Amino acid sequence: MDFSQMLERPRRLRGNPLIRSMVRETRISKSSLIYPMFVRDGQNILEPIPSLDGQMRCSVDRLGDVLEPVLESGVRNVMLFGIPDHKDEAGSQAYAEDGVVQRALRFAKERYPELYLITDVCMCEYTSHGHCGILSGCEVDNDKTLPLIAKTALSHVQAGADMVAPSDMMDGRILAIRQELDKNGYVSTPIMSYAVKYSSAFYGPFRDAAGSAPSFGDRKGYQMDFHNRKEALKEAALDVKEGADILMVKPAMSYLDIVRDVADNFNLPVAAYSVSGEYAMIKAAARAGLIDEAAVVCEAAAGVFRAGAGILLTYYAKELARWMDEGRIG
Ligand code: PBG
Repeated sequence: MDFSQMLERPRRLRGNPLIRSMVRETRISKSSLIYPMFVRDGQNILEPIPSLDGQMRCSVDRLGDVLEPVLESGVRNVMLFGIPDHKDEAGSQAYAEDGVVQRALRFAKERYPELYLITDVCMCEYTSHGHCGILSGCEVDNDKTLPLIAKTALSHVQAGADMVAPSDMMDGRILAIRQELDKNGYVSTPIMSYAVKYSSAFYGPFRDAAGSAPSFGDRKGYQMDFHNRKEALKEAALDVKEGADILMVKPAMSYLDIVRDVADNFNLPVAAYSVSGEYAMIKAAARAGLIDEAAVVCEAAAGVFRAGAGILLTYYAKELARWMDEGRIG
């Protein structure tokens, strides 16, 4: 055989770690990671979350137990979810001045000023029925919900949130929040929209963690149908028009085509949320000895960035930061 005409040999650029690193197309840094975490009512609580092996729920006074390891890992961005003791029809603890997220924000802002505090804005953890808005009969009433979503966002910002992230999927929520924040002088606070959020079974472990599963029906009347692709662009375009600053796609792993579409079609930063079910599956497979946890998490994370995301929300944020330090990804 004569190989003299074979001028192209892709293996030349794979010869050792230095050259592989030099030609790498996707680079990842700690500054693009966001760590989602759960804070609950009560005192002196630091409890493991059974559905999310390795994650903790904490009360406000024990927030340091969760935040300090995050800081030590080099991750600076966190997303707060609140779990109230009291739930009612109107989700009143979502926008209460002394609600759990509002207290957590005041505590964290003062104690850990180096953190960037993002809040999930939604009603499902606060309503007795577990839906993401106010009910009229058995329907989630879009326009009745909007003022409460806006009020929740404002109360978070007043308590110290650096950015708000609405995840309720009501129509018009970005505009409602933007107007409420602007009216109160918070013109500089960004909104990261869960712009493209599918109705997904991958949220199962989160709903156990937050006690936010709907008590009847499902979320298909407001979250997106997973068969749809063009609709993602429509949702994203609406949110851009309404004033969103960052567009999020959620979940991540089964929706990388959507991440790519959104990244290609808009000029805003794109975030992807690797959700609870993605985390739980990898954990379970790793625990069972079936996969190499670090290798799989790094590969999956790189996939999200390669698909076009610039920001990744992941329960593995601290570990990813460590694996970056160890040169396993980056
Ligand atoms: C609140 C919300 C959910 C998640 C983020 N914000 C749950 C849901 O929509 O049912 C899911 C996050 C995860 O699964 O990790 N609406």
